[in-house]
Amino acid sequence: MKIVEQIKQPIAYEMELFEQKFLLSMSSKVALLNRITHYIVNRKGKQMRPMFVFLVSKMVSNGEVSERTYRGASVIELIHTATLVHDDVVDDSNRRRGFFSVNALWKNKIAVLVGDYLLSKGLLLSIDNNDFDLLKIISIAVREMSEGELLQIEKARRLDITEDIYYEIIRQKTATLIAACCSLGAASVKPESTHVETMRKFGELIGMAFQIKDDLFDYGQEKIGKPTGIDIKEQKMTLPLIHVLNKVSKKDSKWLINSIKNHNKDAKRVKEVIAFVREQGGLDYAVTKMKAFQEEALKMLEPYPESPYKSSLILMVNYVIERKK
Ligand code: IPE
Ligand code: IPE
Ligand code: MG
Ligand code: MG
Repeated sequence: MKIVEQIKQPIAYEMELFEQKFLLSMSSKVALLNRITHYIVNRKGKQMRPMFVFLVSKMVSNGEVSERTYRGASVIELIHTATLVHDDVVDDSNRRRGFFSVNALWKNKIAVLVGDYLLSKGLLLSIDNNDFDLLKIISIAVREMSEGELLQIEKARRLDITEDIYYEIIRQKTATLIAACCSLGAASVKPESTHVETMRKFGELIGMAFQIKDDLFDYGQEKIGKPTGIDIKEQKMTLPLIHVLNKVSKKDSKWLINSIKNHNKDAKRVKEVIAFVREQGGLDYAVTKMKAFQEEALKMLEPYPESPYKSSLILMVNYVIERKK
């Protein structure tokens, strides 16, 4: 059995029902919007965030989920989808999930508005059902994601990023939403319990590993359904490059910075930078750090009694760093 199927086994019923509810949660009276949201749901992603929601919910409650859990999972996936639509505008990226991105097909104007629409649908789903405790968890994540993307732009402009600032960026732009999945999963069935904070921390740690993996993909040539090699083009400095910049000679670091500052749209030069980062051990270093976050995340699960849900979460933690897309 494939690893993803194995992970999904104890939540197969929930994931199927979730998909129906998720589709309904996007509907609109505006035909253009419906066309675009259908385009989006037909090219579904890995759905790792709803998987985290259901697995955590069931792990902390011995197999229980509630309507709150389903709504929470839908809200998170709506917000995730909204941020991807916006992110592809921000990153000027034309591919997503193996197909054209929304901005590539309908242009930036429409992509910005579709992202806003999905975000508002998500927030309303919580509000209309009085899930205010869950809405708080989600709204914090939304705020942090915007701050993370902006901090990243600020640092890309000045090219003065440190390893600590990189961790702060990825914590905000990616890890907080995965943290929200896990704390919300717990809060949906066991509000006010200590699981809510323990699972938030667990999600944050695995979210850090998740984004380091994503940044590693950008240095590879594998087909992952979205462009590779665009981070340098966008002057986005990620862990492999940051590490190499810190350890090489002044001359080499000048060449690197100059490449990113003045030759970032030159495909040949970008390839040279990527090769240099690889030779200097930048990727290996990032892998080591990714694994350290993964280990820390696994430790947070240790106190929980054995269950099919816990086993799946452990598989999921491993899948985050071994996935092929
Ligand atoms: C992509 O997230 C955005 C990042 C935070 C790196 P996913 O890799 O979970 O995207 P999909 O939903 O599976 O396409
Ligand atoms: C994560 O960063 C984006 C979000 C948090 C929305 P990336 O820009 O690296 O994500 P991808 O690679 O486009 O999916
Ligand atoms: Mg992007
Ligand atoms: Mg990326």
